[in-house]
Amino acid sequence: MNIITLKDYRIFVGEDIWTEFAYLLEQRKYSRILILVDENTGRDCLPLFRANINLNAHIIEIPAGEPHKNIKTSQAIWQAMMEHETDRRSLLINLGGGVIGDMGGFCASTFKRGIDFIQFPTTLLSQVDASVGGKLGIDFNHIKNSIGLFANPQAVFIYPPFLDSLPYRELRSGFAEIIKHGLILDEKYWSAISQAEELNPQDLTRFILPSLSIKKHVVEEDPYEKGLRKVLNFGHTIGHAVESYALETDTPLLHGEAIAIGMICEAWLSYKFFVLKQSELKSITDFILKIYGKPALHPGSFDQLIALMRQDKKNEHEQINFTLLKSIGNAVVNQTCGVDGIIGSLGYYEGLQAK
Ligand SMILES: NC(=O)c1ccc[n+]([C@@H]2O[C@H](COP(=O)([O-])OP(=O)(O)OC[C@H]3O[C@@H](n4cnc5c(N)ncnc54)[C@H](O)[C@@H]3O)[C@@H](O)[C@H]2O)c1
Ligand SMILES: [Zn+2]
Repeated sequence: MNIITLKDYRIFVGEDIWTEFAYLLEQRKYSRILILVDENTGRDCLPLFRANINLNAHIIEIPAGEPHKNIKTSQAIWQAMMEHETDRRSLLINLGGGVIGDMGGFCASTFKRGIDFIQFPTTLLSQVDASVGGKLGIDFNHIKNSIGLFANPQAVFIYPPFLDSLPYRELRSGFAEIIKHGLILDEKYWSAISQAEELNPQDLTRFILPSLSIKKHVVEEDPYEKGLRKVLNFGHTIGHAVESYALETDTPLLHGEAIAIGMICEAWLSYKFFVLKQSELKSITDFILKIYGKPALHPGSFDQLIALMRQDKKNEHEQINFTLLKSIGNAVVNQTCGVDGIIGSLGYYEGLQAK
């Protein structure tokens, strides 16, 4: 087992996390334990969870997917907590991907002014990224994560075998955050990532620890996103807009798929308006297209994408805020770019040939 220690909590990673988990529960003597799952993690992960630990817990199950990361589902969670007579000495275990972790953490932190929660991430995306850093929340008025707060879990337990039941498209979506980690902070890591040929759980498990170390470094330096933490937003200004837009169509994109598009566009901005080399833009573009193909942007969507970017939480003084790359492994926060430039980057993406 590997242990990553942050200021307020620890992350346990490995197949042998269960003794440590049992020990933590024994020490804390919670009055009630609730486990939040969605329909998929209830089916695929809960049996594996139960095979490893014997717990007397109430299960709260919600529908799966980003469209349910909203206030209505949160109300259903709070309602279930009330019905199970959850008090302030209770614990919520979030067993699922980033949606369960973000929304479960949000519901736990607001219920009776806050009860303890533990993150048990089951997707690659949540194991390498979302479960760490204390950002919790839900989507509102079609704006992603627009209601929420910062609060830390008691611990994070990462059990890689959960990935065995994860559909390929979800696995690939999580890989986008790994790509991002290399691009923003670590050129050597990017070199290892960009050698990846096959995306399967066994091969991808080796990226969990290095990605978590990058995330830990960033969130500890800047827990409330005043500066450095914005590096994690590379690809996300355009990516979030593409994701929100696609969510309303009949061809929604997964988070990482939208971020992959965002990273190509923002790499182009980094080349066109900053100092990223054309050769680096090309290797980023080629690798991402090889892994993700080239989902089309909807014709006529550019104005709406810009409108969505104007809503981005990172913006200041009405300027759309970007994290751009100086070079691979070296990101710079708080860059701005005019609308024509952004449209240009979307045009660059549109003009690419799928690999
Ligand atoms: N808090 C943060 O810092 C942070 C960082 C990045 C992303 N996020 C958020 O995370 C969310 C995306 O996370 P996600 O991709 O994990 O989405 P998700 O939670 O929707 O999970 C993806 C799908 O996989 C299913 N699933 C989960 N684990 C499974 C397993 N082991 N086997 C089979 N099916 C499984 C889920 O039911 C769901 O259908 C977004 O809402 C994003 O905003 C948060
Ligand atoms: Zn992301």
